[in-house]
Parts: sequence; C-alpha cells; structure tokens
Amino acid sequence: MIQLSDVNKAFRVKDRKTRAWKRIEAVKSLSFQVRAGEIYGLLGPNGAGKSTTLRMIVGLMKPDSGSIRICDLDTQEKPEPCRSLVGYLSTDISVYTRFTPRELLRIFGEFQGLDPRVAERRGMGLLEKLQLKDFADIRMEGFSSGQKQKVSIARALLHDPVAVIFDEPTTGLDVFTAKTVLDLLRILKSEGRAVIVSTHLMPMVEEICDRVGIIFGGELHGDAPPAEMLERWKVHSLEEVFFKLAVP
Ligand SMILES: Nc1ncnc2c1ncn2[C@@H]1O[C@H](COP(=O)(O)OP(=O)(O)OP(=O)(O)O)[C@@H](O)[C@H]1O
Ligand SMILES: [Mg+2]
Repeated sequence: MIQLSDVNKAFRVKDRKTRAWKRIEAVKSLSFQVRAGEIYGLLGPNGAGKSTTLRMIVGLMKPDSGSIRICDLDTQEKPEPCRSLVGYLSTDISVYTRFTPRELLRIFGEFQGLDPRVAERRGMGLLEKLQLKDFADIRMEGFSSGQKQKVSIARALLHDPVAVIFDEPTTGLDVFTAKTVLDLLRILKSEGRAVIVSTHLMPMVEEICDRVGIIFGGELHGDAPPAEMLERWKVHSLEEVFFKLAVP
C-alpha cells in the first residue's frame, strides 16, 4: 500500500560563522514497502532521517529523486488524492487550546469536506478509543501534553485514512497513555490500514511492529520482522543492533 523506491533527500544549510554552505544527506536511496494490515516501525537515533522520510510520504516535502506511491498513486503526480489517503501525526502536538476537542474535530471535519454527522460520529468514536471522551467538551487550555497528543491523534484519523503515518506517537507519554495509543495502533492494523510509526522506543517496536526498518545516517539498515532482525544480527534486543551500527 505504501511503497518507497530509491528515495533521496538532501538539505543545504549555511554555517553562520564560516558562511560556508553544507550539504546534509538526510535520506539516501531509501526503499521499503508497507502492506495493508501491517505496522512498520521506523527506528533510528536523533537526526537519522525518520521525520524527513515521513514528511515526504505525507507530501509535506518533495524527494530530490525516487518515488513514493500510496495505493499505487504517485505522491508527486497525484498529491491531492494521496493526501486524503494518509493520516499524519507530527511531533509538534500544538492544538488550538481555545477550543474543546469536539469543536476542534468539527472544524477539521469541515476543512476536509466531511459530512458533519459523520465527522461527529468518527471523532467521538476516536476520543472514546483514546479514553478522552469525558473531556470532549472541555476547553483544551488546561490539557496535559498526553491529552493534547490524543486530540492530535483523533484529528489525524478523522477522515478515515487507509495509511497512517505517526511520528513518535508515544514520546513523552506515561505508560498508561502510551498503552492506549499502542492499543489504537493495533485496532488500526486490524482494520486493514497500513501503519508507519517512527520511534526511539525499541521495546514498543518489538511488541507491536510486524516489520522494522532501522535508519542510520539516512540509510536503511535491515528491513525485517523484529525477531528476524535479532536473529540476523545475533543479538537479544534491537538496542544491541543500534550499538552495532554505531560502532561497526
Ligand atoms: N528543513 C530542514 N532543513 C535543513 N536540514 C534539515 C531539515 N529537516 C531535516 N534536516 C536535517 O536532516 C537530518 C535528518 O533529520 P530528521 O528530522 O529527519 O531526523 P529524525 O530521525 O527525525 O531525528 P529525531 O529523532 O531527532 O526526530 C538532520 O541532520 C536534520 O538536521
Ligand atoms: Mg524526527
């Protein structure tokens, strides 16, 4: 359902002190695919290229070369239909705190051209799955970061996307809230969606991901089910794979 073929992305950044331009190869020759009903974990240290990869998949950034297809549509040739196929959660969880979750979801439903009753039903269903329904009509000013994260997740899924792209959905969440989010990811999988989740949390990957890709310096090292990855590297945890990659 989601297919990346030989995707490359570089940035040019200027060093203010030396005034020299520097080229950062954020993503290099990246290829992998995620099928319907599969959770794919994208693992990697800070600056590895995870968010850049996800931003390209959802159409917020263009690859320099290579192609990304969602449901067999090329994201560069058909950006609009592709955008409606994906639900994206970024690491920036800012929400308009003047609104209640119900109001915010209603507004987003309108933006997306959804029938207001359908948007209401889906929005409340999502808040229920995220255990936030009791807060549906409370202004978000005093919400904790976990509660705001849940609202952002509901917003990302409101239009019923077949492909779900979550950038670090559990970072900063307590174990209970993180479990609620992981349970929701399992539901999304059981509904036949293709899910990509980036994270630093390796136990989470071992627990819920069907396949895992480890990205290091923009390159994919290994793309396999977690157990196979451990076998291949002859280690007991994905963390050890990380250390082996860091010190080859
Ligand atoms: N808009 C941009 N302009 C310049 N450089 C960028 C831009 N976006 C990303 N980069 C660079 O590309 C590299 C990969 O960044 P990216 O955000 O994809 O990493 P990440 O794996 O998501 O890291 P983290 O775990 O810290 O979120 C980094 O060196 C980063 O500085
Ligand atoms: Mg990131």
